[in-house]
Amino acid sequence: MSQFDIFSADSSEQSPSKRAEELRAIINSADHAYYVEAHPIMSDREYDGMFRELQDLEQHDPTLLTPDSPTQRIGGSQLKEFVQVMHKKPMLSLANTYSEEEVRDFDERVTQGLDNPHHPYVCELKVDGVAISLHYRNGVLERAVTRGDGEIGDDVTANIKTIKELPLKIQHIPFEELNQEMEIRGEVYMENAAFLALNQAREEAGEKTYANPRNLTAGTLKQLNSKEVAKRPLKIVCYYLDGNSEKTNISHAENLIHLKTMGFPISQYSKRVDDIDAVSRFLNEWEYQRDQLPFGIDGIVIKVDSIPQQRILGTVARAPKWAIAYKYEALKAETILQDITFQIGRTGVVTPVAELEPVFLAGSTISRATLHNEDFILGLDIRISDTVIVEKGGDVIPKITGFIASKRHPDALKFSFPNLCPCPINSDLHHPEGEVHYLCMHPECPWQIRRRLEHFASRDAMNIEGLGEKVIDQFVELGLLHSIADIYSLQEKKDSIQSLDRWGLKSVDKLLESIEQSKNQPFRKVLFALGIRHIGEGMSKTLAQHFGSIEALQNADLNQLLEIKEVGNSIANSLIEFFKDEHEMSMLNTLKHADLCMSIDESEMAIRTDEFSGFSIVLTGELSALTRKEASEEIEKRGGKVTGSVSKKTTCLIAGEQAGSKLDKARELNIPILTEQDFLAVIQGTLPLTSFLGLP
Ligand code: IVH
Repeated sequence: MSQFDIFSADSSEQSPSKRAEELRAIINSADHAYYVEAHPIMSDREYDGMFRELQDLEQHDPTLLTPDSPTQRIGGSQLKEFVQVMHKKPMLSLANTYSEEEVRDFDERVTQGLDNPHHPYVCELKVDGVAISLHYRNGVLERAVTRGDGEIGDDVTANIKTIKELPLKIQHIPFEELNQEMEIRGEVYMENAAFLALNQAREEAGEKTYANPRNLTAGTLKQLNSKEVAKRPLKIVCYYLDGNSEKTNISHAENLIHLKTMGFPISQYSKRVDDIDAVSRFLNEWEYQRDQLPFGIDGIVIKVDSIPQQRILGTVARAPKWAIAYKYEALKAETILQDITFQIGRTGVVTPVAELEPVFLAGSTISRATLHNEDFILGLDIRISDTVIVEKGGDVIPKITGFIASKRHPDALKFSFPNLCPCPINSDLHHPEGEVHYLCMHPECPWQIRRRLEHFASRDAMNIEGLGEKVIDQFVELGLLHSIADIYSLQEKKDSIQSLDRWGLKSVDKLLESIEQSKNQPFRKVLFALGIRHIGEGMSKTLAQHFGSIEALQNADLNQLLEIKEVGNSIANSLIEFFKDEHEMSMLNTLKHADLCMSIDESEMAIRTDEFSGFSIVLTGELSALTRKEASEEIEKRGGKVTGSVSKKTTCLIAGEQAGSKLDKARELNIPILTEQDFLAVIQGTLPLTSFLGLP
């Protein structure tokens, strides 16, 4: 017989409201006992019976439903969006440290700030989850708000109520002041095992998987349907209590105990220590134990325990001066390198990828990692079938850093880069002299074409909405797109597209409209969209400004290209190769005929931002057509520098009316002198500045 049989025995004699209140209390206690204490106080059967009884009562008379009812944990109605809520006190972040020395520097600052060497600390695990602020009024959870930007967060109360360990109503409030209103903060997280199971289920269902438990937690809290949230086993650990009470203004460690008394889950690993030496021991202990934990941590939080001391230390730049995060170095794991596969990028670069036996490391499962290029693989001398070392620090992408020599199979073959592209065409791979990469140069390599199309249509290039990865895959597969040039003749294939799966008249029209719009993208965007090797966004802009048109760029020889400050051999050669390639040229021709912008417009043409680059120009005398400031701006716009006095380094002097000593000095030093009229001719583009400088 369980201790609750006394309640359920004669339930018929109680009023429904009394019975509902009683059931809420029992179920809430049972949740706490099961989820927090790990000591169930009743059987599942009894629990389910009471839960259903409460649900029935509430359904029969909705006025009996209270916000603290455990029936709320199974989720409620679908929201349209979250309400934004301003935090009463900003939710701060923590400064990070990465070495014991930095932690000792922090201690030093605390001692100085307090003018007192005695300041015990509390060390806590830094659980890798999502921060949350909880508001209780009269002991009932009223609102749960995410950190957001620290000032304003989302009201995710319905989602937070699904966390079974969190009290919806506090049974024992230790002192009266806490009853009215209190704020508790903590970290919502998910255990590794739950994360793995959920990700696996998602993968099997063909859904997107999450990179780590923190992302899954954040994604779950963003769900607008709390019924979905209830299916995911979120957990919470509380680490802060603000109770507007003298008694909660004494010590952080005591506040943690108050939290525990009130039924909040707190970390069993938090520890109050006397000094920095003990902090250091705590850090060292966890260095080795952290991967035994059922959840991921990304470090340790060290907090000054005394709240009056915290107040003295205060806050700087949104982080408290009384607390710090210590981050551990990257975690390592061993796993088997099962295979090396290859990815083809938009410029034909072939990137080797490590296919690993899946291994769980620092919160996520790793099954692939980039191997960058041939030199990287040969440098580490890793071979297929090796036991390799994978490293991961915080959020960074996993890296392979070596192999275990003693575990190498005697037959393991030294890696050699394939000669043929692994794509269905199997064309020869090229390895340009002095470059680390192998390239697939086949103009019809389907893998490369997809990447090129994606790049061409992307937002920073031609910005064609509706032509994303999936659509491109579909069109390439069906032979609707073979190259970039085909994009501008999709109009002719309208009927075929319309009849495809997931397409209709409206969506086709939208896509075609977006393609039409892309013809207005400026020349620099078109140049970037072409996907020429080494020509990124910045370089496209420089080239567009410098040459003004695709013809001028195409006609430039190696020397003319190398004259540009930012252009080196790789860029220059890549451009020359591009313009020599007949496939690229036929594509370019089609794009020209489709009326894409192949030159900068007149206003852009007038100013080339590097026209005066490297020039040091002095202004003197009175100018009439423009002010000194305007003249300086015109020079700076073109990349020149305006200096105050004439020296041997001065490129030229621009002399207005009544010029004095500067003009004399320039004459003395043989510095070229321009009149205001000359200068105006230069900035209007009639004459190049170089024609005044005795330069070619
Ligand atoms: S204290 C002003 N304690 O770490 C104090 N934070 O990098 C700020 N976190 O936003 C929070 N475990 O999401 C604190 N025991 C702990 C923590 C913790 C994890 C997270 C929290 C915070 C972030 C700061």
